[in-house]
Amino acid sequence: MAAGLARLLLLLGLSAGGPAPAGAAKMKVVEEPNAFGVNNPFLPQASRLQAKRDPSPVSGPVHLFRLSGKCFSLVESTYKYEFCPFHNVTQHEQTFRWNAYSGILGIWHEWEIANNTFTGMWMRDGDACRSRSRQSKVELACGKSNRLAHVSEPSTCVYALTFETPLVCHPHALLVYPTLPEALQRQWDQVEQDLADELITPQGHEKLLRTLFEDAGYLKTPEENEPTQLEGGPDSLGFETLENCRKAHKELSKEIKRLKGLLTQHGIPYTRPTETSNLEHLGHETPRAKSPEQLRGDPGLRGSL
Ligand SMILES: *[C@@H]1O[C@H](CO)[C@@H](O)[C@H](O)[C@H]1NC(C)=O
Ligand SMILES: *[C@@H]1O[C@H](CO)[C@@H](O)[C@H](O)[C@H]1NC(C)=O
Repeated sequence: MAAGLARLLLLLGLSAGGPAPAGAAKMKVVEEPNAFGVNNPFLPQASRLQAKRDPSPVSGPVHLFRLSGKCFSLVESTYKYEFCPFHNVTQHEQTFRWNAYSGILGIWHEWEIANNTFTGMWMRDGDACRSRSRQSKVELACGKSNRLAHVSEPSTCVYALTFETPLVCHPHALLVYPTLPEALQRQWDQVEQDLADELITPQGHEKLLRTLFEDAGYLKTPEENEPTQLEGGPDSLGFETLENCRKAHKELSKEIKRLKGLLTQHGIPYTRPTETSNLEHLGHETPRAKSPEQLRGDPGLRGSL
């Protein structure tokens, strides 16, 4: 340790004497494996990571529960990825740099369900990435042994993992219905019956099934998702509140009034907008129906429209 420090001071001293930029000294020092950082064998990497919240409870097909508490890793180029089913996904840079990146790519959150099938495990609320949190979707695929087979980043800070396991090779291994308590199965039966009897629409059917999966604990309710969604930024506010709707409506009404004014001013007849589709009619067809000469001699109208 003392020798290392002496060497560090020597290197700093040398670089201070020469014209080398500050970065040069840094580069030399990091070649030495050091005792301060991530690679300290006495300080396990994982203990340095601070999870934002606890993972969701273990849920889904019972035969997968035995994976809970285990971890599977994959080294790809300079990173080691680690998937701990029903717990987390982490990433560890494999270098001797003192500030090697180690991070949480997601904490077990909820299942993805499609077509009566568990199609993926969502791990969310990972380390910050710009204004969002890193998140990972883990697909379960049939394989000879348990292994993390593939990792990619299809969009920024959203990771896609493939985990192979013999536990999902049976064609019914990931079906949702058999995992449900009987009461929820009866509810599901009723929902299907109502759809068949056309008492509910396909959209209503989707919505009822979603609620049912939330009750089972497979999906999180929108309130439970809120922290993640809010991190999506101001854009995600949209029409969520009545206040926003009123504002948007007021602005659209003003715009319609302005456009109508333009049409009137130029003697172009228009139909009263009763539906949104009429806006298009107003914008394109009516002027086209007029003699083209009138429009051509009127650049002001075209520019404004
Ligand atoms: C990830 O999950 C594993 C397995 O349960 C656990 O030992 C580890 O502490 C977790 N890591 C983080 C950063 O929460
Ligand atoms: C839905 O799942 C069934 C098996 O459960 C399968 O036969 C069918 O092809 C799937 N449909 C779609 C659209 O994925």
